[in-house]
Amino acid sequence: MAESIGVLTAGGDAPGLNAAIRALGKSAILTHGWTVVGFRDGFRGLMQDRSIRLDSDALSGILTQGGTILGTGRDKVHKMDVGGTQLDMRDAMMEVFQEHHLSALVCLGGGGTMKNALKLSERGMPVVALPKTIDNDVFGTDRTFGFDTALNIATEAVDRLHSTAHSHHRIIVVEIMGHNAGWLTIGAGLGGGADVTLIPEIGYDLDTVANSITDRRTAGSRFSIVAVAEGAISADRKQRLIDLKTAAKAASGEEAAALKAEYARVEAGRRSTVELARELEQRTGLDARVTILGHVQRGGSPSPVDRILATCLGTACMETIAAGEFGVMVASEGDGARTVPLEEVAGRRKTVPIDHPWIASARSLGVSLGNGS
Ligand code: F6P
Repeated sequence: MAESIGVLTAGGDAPGLNAAIRALGKSAILTHGWTVVGFRDGFRGLMQDRSIRLDSDALSGILTQGGTILGTGRDKVHKMDVGGTQLDMRDAMMEVFQEHHLSALVCLGGGGTMKNALKLSERGMPVVALPKTIDNDVFGTDRTFGFDTALNIATEAVDRLHSTAHSHHRIIVVEIMGHNAGWLTIGAGLGGGADVTLIPEIGYDLDTVANSITDRRTAGSRFSIVAVAEGAISADRKQRLIDLKTAAKAASGEEAAALKAEYARVEAGRRSTVELARELEQRTGLDARVTILGHVQRGGSPSPVDRILATCLGTACMETIAAGEFGVMVASEGDGARTVPLEEVAGRRKTVPIDHPWIASARSLGVSLGNGS
């Protein structure tokens, strides 16, 4: 009997998911002679056995499509909301896996998916994961697919905002996705020529940002483009969060719970992008406008770079399964791939290192990163 593999997509969608599904599916069918079963809407679809046979017809014509033909979801396998109660549904998923006589499950996703994949692997399910997210924040991989497409969209937005900011002598503050990582923002800021770039990795000081805009005006530039990551945070608040996390780790019981609650409160109280723009307006005397790019960054057809990356990771994934290697993520490394144990990946995030060349390059250009440069 031919082997069968299962596949699901989880977490936020990202351009390139369909390219990866197509690649791993075609490689499974054509190179290895396996059959492929897709589960809809992430781990919930696996738990409920909402399956679809991914034959050659189903895989045809999807290389260029955005989103995921399988649908996605943000459930946690060990804390799944079932009728209002959070339950560990891993046994139910294992039953479905066995009923389909699968020899492997491929999970395509970001940080949350890596944790879920590890949890299933610990229960004995042979799992292989692939890293996707526009945030590029999965630990252990050079790149995630989806990032390049989103970077193109965000960069084009920064480009386009220049002419209108220039014409009206305004500040335009553009909010860019990325969760708590600044890859998209530092990339789009560099690629699009932002004047100020605020990323979560570098806490900002509002006066420093306002002064850099005022200095530009004094030097004759009466507009400024501020690229701000959705996770950007002031230096004071960032330090407070670091202190609370350290204290919570050292504490236990009620004290730890109270510190965690305080952490959540401080984090939620972050200055919004709209508030940031209003405060810059007050400090500089310039008119300011806000553009929140939002989910447009995740939509549409993947770039050629993402199509190639997703395709190569998809085929490498099938080689990994053929070699009998499980409990790993197939990571990108240069133009190729390597496997990384899920234990090394799950629960860790790849943020922008402070000494990253993109940051050094921005500083050399006189871009304000909000911290005195
Ligand atoms: O992880 C991708 C991402 O787009 C993040 O950049 C963003 O913070 C989040 O997902 C938004 O999630 P949702 O689509 O659930 O609103």
